Amino acid sequence: MGAELLSGKVVSAKIREELKIELINMKKDGIIAGLAVVIVGDDAASRVYVNAKKKACAEIGIESYEYALSEETSQAELLDLVNSLNSNNKVNGILVQLPLPKHIDEETIINAINPSKDVDAFHPHNVGKIMIGNYDFLPCTPAGVMELIKESGVEISGKECVVVGRSNIVGKPQAMLLLHSNGTITVCHSRTRDLKEVCRRADILVVAIGKAEFVTKEYVKPGAVVIDVGMNRLENKKLVGDVAFEEVAEVASYITPVPGGVGPMTIAMLMKNTVKAAILQSGKK
Ligand code: GUN
Repeated sequence: MGAELLSGKVVSAKIREELKIELINMKKDGIIAGLAVVIVGDDAASRVYVNAKKKACAEIGIESYEYALSEETSQAELLDLVNSLNSNNKVNGILVQLPLPKHIDEETIINAINPSKDVDAFHPHNVGKIMIGNYDFLPCTPAGVMELIKESGVEISGKECVVVGRSNIVGKPQAMLLLHSNGTITVCHSRTRDLKEVCRRADILVVAIGKAEFVTKEYVKPGAVVIDVGMNRLENKKLVGDVAFEEVAEVASYITPVPGGVGPMTIAMLMKNTVKAAILQSGKK
């Protein structure tokens, strides 16, 4: 393997350690940060993510409140819960784990979350602020990716950045954050022509398409920084990213592993947003 590994495990541990100290100091000022984590139904992957988020809260000193609702929960019931969390002073951040069951409209639920408690930064109010570049809450996964690029030491300004995937959660906000860092941005998707050629232009390649080991070495310019946002379970149960790690590591300069790359960074950024929400809501700082 020629590339250097960008370890989300290592970088996220550093961030969580800093937050832990900040939370101790906040407590001295009477500020206790609280995160409500809402999960509806029993999607196995969602359960794993929610458990990881609760564990991270416990480790650094954020209070977490879990609301595990049955698959049959109605949209009205979920809206009632969101509204009660909006007015609960112990809850600084509200996270509704996606995807929701089909009979619930995700947009309706996201729009009901008070933007000042929207630690995922999914509400249109916060999405708009990200677009403008003046935001309180970082979009968690894209912000985690930015931290990993920073760790590489590779300057973004002026570079060709290619984002593969255009989801509201990753691709679109990722493009904005890279743009704010003065990268030249191309966003690719399922209708992109000559995807391989476009990817090969990238100095920094961020892949978030949800297709196991899709990006092979032919997609990667020698020396590129490759960030893999994918999390795919193979039939043999192995967890892999959207990038064919072994062969791409031969040509890239830096690469993130899966697991242990972007995943832990997303959680660290969620913790960061929750701390920020608690500070902003306290009115003390
Ligand atoms: N589902 C997949 N990723 C996320 C995330 O970052 N936040 C929430 N709430 N749901 C998700």
